[in-house]
Amino acid sequence: MGDLVERVRDVLPSVRRDLEDLVRIESVWADHSRRGEVERSARAVANLLSAAGFHDVETVAEGGGPAVIARHPAPPGALTVLLYAHHDVQPEGDHGQWASPPFEPTERGGRLYGRGTADDKAGIATHLAAFRAHGGTPPVGVTVFVEGEEESGSPSLSRLLDAHRDKLAADVIVLADSGNWSTDVPALTVSLRGLADCVVEVETLDHGLHSGMWGGVVPDALMAMSRLLASLHDDDGNVAVSGLHESTAAALEYPPEQVREESGMLAGVREIGSGAVTERLWAKPSITVIGIDTTPIAQSSNTLTSRARAKVSMRVAPGGDAKAHLDALTRHLESHAPWGARVTVTPGDIGQPYAIDATGPVYDAARAAFREAWGTDSVDLGIGGSIPFIATFAEKFPDAKILVTGVEDPATQAHSVDESLHLRVLERAAMAEALLLEKLG
Ligand code: BES
Ligand code: MN
Repeated sequence: MGDLVERVRDVLPSVRRDLEDLVRIESVWADHSRRGEVERSARAVANLLSAAGFHDVETVAEGGGPAVIARHPAPPGALTVLLYAHHDVQPEGDHGQWASPPFEPTERGGRLYGRGTADDKAGIATHLAAFRAHGGTPPVGVTVFVEGEEESGSPSLSRLLDAHRDKLAADVIVLADSGNWSTDVPALTVSLRGLADCVVEVETLDHGLHSGMWGGVVPDALMAMSRLLASLHDDDGNVAVSGLHESTAAALEYPPEQVREESGMLAGVREIGSGAVTERLWAKPSITVIGIDTTPIAQSSNTLTSRARAKVSMRVAPGGDAKAHLDALTRHLESHAPWGARVTVTPGDIGQPYAIDATGPVYDAARAAFREAWGTDSVDLGIGGSIPFIATFAEKFPDAKILVTGVEDPATQAHSVDESLHLRVLERAAMAEALLLEKLG
């Protein structure tokens, strides 16, 4: 065992270089003009897996983002473990807000900065490190599956799983796309929220009107939209849509100062919602407005706006059904428009939540691997984010044990500017995964 930990340390510098090369590729699937980059990223991942000793490596797609499947057959009688990560990344946003260029991996203070350094190219790096540490011959079968459209809601995943069912079948699946409690305390993620979003359009006029001539009598669409969006929460910030599911979460201590510090909430801004923080984050629904299309200020004149659109994104608590939640949200929006404004809701993506019963020998092995690699016990976490792949996979392979791991920590800033990976966390995550493969063998 000691040797294995040493071997992870040995392979880590090369893994880090490979990770940096992957981060330089702008694999933003959501940006149509960069889909060629996602293809290039898939080829780079395939090449790395071939070089690591996987014999059977292919890039596959079912009308969506290219995924990579690499296989190392199980020794007779041994389990097969599927290692999941995604190579697509979130759009990087405004380059000017990054302290260093988003696609130029840069080390500062023990962290590697860049889009996808953590979410989720580090997942690929973790799998590579674990496999290389075993010299390409782990005591279990290993299938690596690296998806290319996770950040776009995995629309073609179900077709991919059907088309490659035999190749992806596994006894255990490890998804390295979540995080840890802190940079010192590892975690097993045992619940994830689902997601449902839509675009709501509000119209009050068929063309703009002089705001002095008609203001006070004729409602503008942006005011109507503001009231409609305001109806989604009560005054305390609790979600006010009826018929949504709530579950319960492990009451891990999450003091207000820690919330403020980890989130970067501005001084004076208060938390919303009631109940324990972990319940609100992991076990209750939440609703946010993630974008609005309307007249930009630079183009505004004294005109009543005739039309406004907003994208509303809802998180669904474990145990809830994302489709039913989208229907409830749609009904709410359709029935709460003020002043008779016309409302049209266009449904968007849905991804199901998931809760894991993390008991039994596979989970014991994972906890033992964490303890050895990190020198401390892991905690069971929920996350407020979503990995729709999990519910889809669990439905297709109901007998597989699902382990959700990852390298994110409270300072990672996934999806935002200055995303980063804590390099020691990558090392420990790789060690834990290498040890897990050994224990499962
Ligand atoms: N890695 C995240 C999931 C995650 C979120 C892990 C928070 C740990 C903490 C994943 O890549 C992600 O962002 N998923 C999307 C899914 C969506 C596009 C369907 C999400 O949660 O928004
Ligand atoms: Mn991710």
